[in-house]
Amino acid sequence: MNDSNSIETLPISGALGAEIHGVDLTRDLSDGTIATIRAALLEHLVIFFRDQHIDPPHQLAFAKRFGEIAEYPMIKGLEDYPKIVPVIKMPDDKANFGGLWHTDTAYLDMPPMGAILAAKEVPPYGGDTLFSNMYLAYERLSEGMHRMLDDLIAINSSAKADVTKTREDMVNKADDRPPPALTARHPVVRTHPETGRKALYVNFGHTVRFQGMTEAESTPILNYLFRHQVQPEFTCCFKWRRGSIAFWDNRAVLHNPVNDYHGYKRVMHRIIIAGEKPH
Ligand code: SIN
Repeated sequence: MNDSNSIETLPISGALGAEIHGVDLTRDLSDGTIATIRAALLEHLVIFFRDQHIDPPHQLAFAKRFGEIAEYPMIKGLEDYPKIVPVIKMPDDKANFGGLWHTDTAYLDMPPMGAILAAKEVPPYGGDTLFSNMYLAYERLSEGMHRMLDDLIAINSSAKADVTKTREDMVNKADDRPPPALTARHPVVRTHPETGRKALYVNFGHTVRFQGMTEAESTPILNYLFRHQVQPEFTCCFKWRRGSIAFWDNRAVLHNPVNDYHGYKRVMHRIIIAGEKPH
């Protein structure tokens, strides 16, 4: 068992993100260690582990300590571990999966609370993942914007053209499961169920319009929010190595994997953890 006292948390930027040292995810972790990791996730919004050469059973066991494992509706999981989705870009693929700013599956009624992504094969350069802090994005808006957004509902879809393109290569290879078009309505400003903080909850990948407004009326405001929510001061950038793991709080961050490593292969294993209906 790991001793929670030996865990060290090192922030990687002023906005969010911290590396966690002193924990071995192949071990049977104590409740104290899990509580320390959860506290770090809530404080830093995305946490990173290095040199964790875990196999699928270890990744599943670790994820289960934080909640029930959810199924991703768009892409089939590994044959022997259907709850682990392989996120793969081959040397001749053009698009990278999820390659735009988004929160995971905002088009579901109950989007995941978080995701755990393990790096299996990384390119010699590039392929970093950017994260952005949606508490800060909300807090830095004016009082007038808060008044306008606080009671709005957004319509989120799985079928926006830009996001659909990022799945194409992987969906075509899986060819046994055409992705359904899914839609969910969620508050534009959600209250985090554990921290009680307010977070901006729209994203370029999925948010189509506001409820009670047309797309033409919603688009100028949404475009402003999409730019506002990813300004560099709200973000961090994670450089992967084989054996790195990222665990993000999907209720309070956006992420965006950078597609800058054409000609090289990148392989990740992703697990999503069930969440609640946003309020
Ligand atoms: C994702 O959007 O879940 C993929 C992130 C990544 O490949 O870095």
